[in-house]
Amino acid sequence: MMLHIPEVLNAGEVQHLRARLDVAQWVDGRRTVGSQGAQVKQNRQLPEDAADMPQLRRIVEDALKRNGLYFSAALPLRVSPPLFNRYEGAGREHYGFHVDGAVRATPADPGWMRTDLSATLFLSEPDEYEGGDLTVRDTYGEHEVRLPAGDLVLYPSSSLHGVSPVTRGARVCSFLWIQSMVRNDQKRTMLFDLDQTIQTLRSRHGESEETLSLSNHYHNLLREWSEI
Ligand code: NI
Repeated sequence: MMLHIPEVLNAGEVQHLRARLDVAQWVDGRRTVGSQGAQVKQNRQLPEDAADMPQLRRIVEDALKRNGLYFSAALPLRVSPPLFNRYEGAGREHYGFHVDGAVRATPADPGWMRTDLSATLFLSEPDEYEGGDLTVRDTYGEHEVRLPAGDLVLYPSSSLHGVSPVTRGARVCSFLWIQSMVRNDQKRTMLFDLDQTIQTLRSRHGESEETLSLSNHYHNLLREWSEI
């Protein structure tokens, strides 16, 4: 499932992040990928040891923690520390089609995580740059994503994806990976649909025997399918 989650960051948070990132020292993005990625990746990343990194990460992490739609869709068990990247027009920077590694080292216990979901959080407005679409290829074809600053897209890490060349301006994003409590994308999608339907029913008609029963089913399925 691909999901657009609007307004993960508020305008003040976007502004704050951009003010810091617009004056940051960026390094070659090939530092952080394996050999396949390095052949097709041409962009810049904020180094992990940048002085601002802990505070910048904290803003993204806190925003994700308060977002109910994100929680319902991702059912996050482990989340990689957010990273930041930048593609600039002058160099026609891009990231060709690639796969994200299935496992990543993380600073938190147990030291490794599986990547079930990838997330891109947009920090530039769409009119600040040309090109730079995130393209995700799945069994239904290719999907191009270009979102307002502060919005996030969640997509399965198992899909091929890339970023088309930026031909004008600069595209700044944060990105991260999630290991979900529910590894299987189809099961996770079913749980998400069920949860959203229950919430809609509840907001329209209030709590009832039926919403209570459906909630019970939701939690029993989550109990059945989650690996914690
Ligand atoms: Ni990727």
